[in-house]
Amino acid sequence: MTHAPGPVPVGPVPVPGRTRLRRLRTSPAMRRLVAQTRVDPADLVLPVFVREGLTEPRPLSSMPGVLQHTRDSLRRAAAQAAQAGVGGIMLFGVPEHRDATGSQADAPDGVLNVAIADVVAEVGDALVVQADLCLDEFTDHGHCGVLTPHGAVDNDATLERYASMALAQADAGAHLIGLSGMMDGQVAATRDALDAAGRTDVALLAYAAKYASAFYGPFREAVESQLHGDRRTYQMDPANRREAAREVAADVAEGADVVMVKPAMSYLDVLADVAATSSVPVFAYQVSGEYAMIEAAAAQGWIDRRGAVTESVLSIRRAGADVVLTYWATELAAWLVEERR
Ligand code: PBG
Repeated sequence: MTHAPGPVPVGPVPVPGRTRLRRLRTSPAMRRLVAQTRVDPADLVLPVFVREGLTEPRPLSSMPGVLQHTRDSLRRAAAQAAQAGVGGIMLFGVPEHRDATGSQADAPDGVLNVAIADVVAEVGDALVVQADLCLDEFTDHGHCGVLTPHGAVDNDATLERYASMALAQADAGAHLIGLSGMMDGQVAATRDALDAAGRTDVALLAYAAKYASAFYGPFREAVESQLHGDRRTYQMDPANRREAAREVAADVAEGADVVMVKPAMSYLDVLADVAATSSVPVFAYQVSGEYAMIEAAAAQGWIDRRGAVTESVLSIRRAGADVVLTYWATELAAWLVEERR
């Protein structure tokens, strides 16, 4: 049967009755009033890279807008973040020279330790100054720990290196130490070392649920990683959800003050699980690949940059993160302040 041209006649359609969800969406003021999640600049942490021996900041091709900093440009970036109301900064050091044990990681004049002291001198307590505690930036093989003679990552020997790094970072003035190496026992080892040295004041952020992720790709350019192979013998399998609860429980039992889920956007289920059960604050890390994807699509004109950035961080907060590490922290903080007016 064929219809004559024109609208098809419809019968009476059922009206929604008393419940009309659109009422709470009628105006910006109403939407703002009933918003169930907010992002505040203080909830954001800015990750930054500082490269030893640079005279000018160096742009990263896979992370447009992100730089390898010099000591001076790092201080300026930290001051800007503090000015914007950002809650903290996470420092990554890129050394000029690497070796098998990552000896620059705990050298007092190593790039990361110098950078911690620089940033603390610049901003004092205006930002929570955090440092990545891991060996991958410092080893010539690029793994997060030291190796056995057979080339496997030696968990327990690595813990001794981490304990020494924790002391060096505490001496440099770090407020919160980010344990990102995924060695078993890393929280207990660093907590005990700090406490024995009288540094009970330095807090530990455990990258509790850190997955072996392709989304760290651009970060490898940022730290000039030497890694061949992968990190699947220590970072978590992306297939595993329940295992995150074990990682978090172990880290909290060992004394973690804060736990983290990483990456963020592909792991919102894990984040929601952790947030629902954690007794300590939960951070999430929107990693380099998440940044690169949105920047690349926006550069093509395929996505609205500000909208996508804002929505992505909001979604990570909505899933349960108390704090979000994001390379957009300073810029997003400025937008948030602007929108509040
Ligand atoms: C380890 C570390 C990594 C990242 C943060 N800490 C790399 C890795 O585990 O391979 C990735 C962060 C990002 O991709 O933005 N030092």
